[in-house]
Amino acid sequence: MPAVSLPPTPGHARHYAIVPAAGHGSRFGSETPKQYLPLLGRPLLHHTLAVLCACPAIDRVFVVLAPDDDWWGGFDWSALGSKLETVRQGGATRAASVQAGLAAAATAAADGDWVLVHDAARPCLSAPALNQLLQTLADDPVGGLLAVPVADTLKRSDQRDRVAGTVPRDGLWQAQTPQMFRYGLLRDALQRFPDVTDEAGAMEAAGHVPRLVRGELANLKVTYPADLALAERLLATAPRG
Ligand code: CTP
Ligand code: MG
Repeated sequence: MPAVSLPPTPGHARHYAIVPAAGHGSRFGSETPKQYLPLLGRPLLHHTLAVLCACPAIDRVFVVLAPDDDWWGGFDWSALGSKLETVRQGGATRAASVQAGLAAAATAAADGDWVLVHDAARPCLSAPALNQLLQTLADDPVGGLLAVPVADTLKRSDQRDRVAGTVPRDGLWQAQTPQMFRYGLLRDALQRFPDVTDEAGAMEAAGHVPRLVRGELANLKVTYPADLALAERLLATAPRG
């Protein structure tokens, strides 16, 4: 049964960001967790947090670290200002880390407020894409996510990497972050459906219909070493506000 949606509270809802940064980057394969790797002279995570901290609509930014994180303290984050708060209670899964962030925000956030969950590993989010998300969803009862329509023809493979079929790409999008939902709805959805790979998945399972907001391909997730070089090129040429 679909959960009842809260009425929108345009103009009154506050915005909180949660950045899960408690992963180990196993696919990247570096000894340093990928979120702390150098990118244009700063840790990758610094770029990710800077976009959110610079956004006037966002009140606080909760960065969720692994409890045994020895890296955070080795860098200077002071340029990011006073919105930033660390939560050293990351969990075994991304969803568990997001839930720790939601718990940390509980004292400040009301059920109708917005929470934006953004991967630490996406340092190339642009201010225009973030603003597009905020503006498009401002009056939405539920929320949604940045995503890009799939442009390439999709192939399904067999076990020997031979083509087993062509998958119609009509209506297919690649989900990105930030994913922006009403605080109370997201908290309840993740409690009920923790085995998801993104927040929208939990919201869908709870019967909500998240909105897709067209983002940019440049907002890539750094997963493999080649992604870091690409992110560096994108950031080096991006206009910075
Ligand atoms: N994340 C987290 N807690 C976890 C797992 C992931 O906070 N237990 C965060 C990561 O730090 C990252 C984001 O979720 O910012 C997206 O996850 P992903 O790109 O998969 O990062 P990792 O899980 O670190 O990488 P991998 O899956 O290759 O191990
Ligand atoms: Mg992962």
